[in-house]
Amino acid sequence: MNIEDAGDLFFYELKGAYYIETKVAEELAELADQANIETLDEQADESFREDVHDAFRTHHDQTETHVGRLEEVFDALDRQPETHEIRAVDEIFAEKEQFNNVVLNDAARPLYYLDVGAKVEQLEVQCYDSLLQLAEALDLDDGVVDTLAANREEDEEARRRMTELAEGDGADEVLAHLVDETTVV
Ligand SMILES: [Fe+2]
Ligand SMILES: [Fe+2]
Repeated sequence: MNIEDAGDLFFYELKGAYYIETKVAEELAELADQANIETLDEQADESFREDVHDAFRTHHDQTETHVGRLEEVFDALDRQPETHEIRAVDEIFAEKEQFNNVVLNDAARPLYYLDVGAKVEQLEVQCYDSLLQLAEALDLDDGVVDTLAANREEDEEARRRMTELAEGDGADEVLAHLVDETTVV
């Protein structure tokens, strides 16, 4: 598609958001399971792993709602849902696959996955900020603005939760454990 005006730009960004949400909905279910892989020293990180698993699981369910909300936005604007490839999100998940191929200590998984999750949510929030700015400039229906804002709100909340977990006591404990196992730095 060619972009010649603010409306074109809005739909370009909307297709990007739809691509990201669809991709994230698939990946979060996987991240939730991979974060919860049992380690040899289970006591050290069990509750942390469960918290990370729950955070991904909860946001996975929200993300499926986000996909549905974006379909409502397309529908309200008389368009068919379409995607526009966002390579940044593909790259983040491709790097996660690389990590999975080399990780030997499962205790490191939740720490790394929280980083992946927070990066993705940051990307989503930025995407909605641009969409909301365009929607307001174009004076789009309040229903459209509210729907986009609802997605942004939950993505920001998910980003905060992932950051909170990454900076919390559970993460510190796992990190201390990994530091103890470190032989060469
Ligand atoms: Fe989202
Ligand atoms: Fe999200």
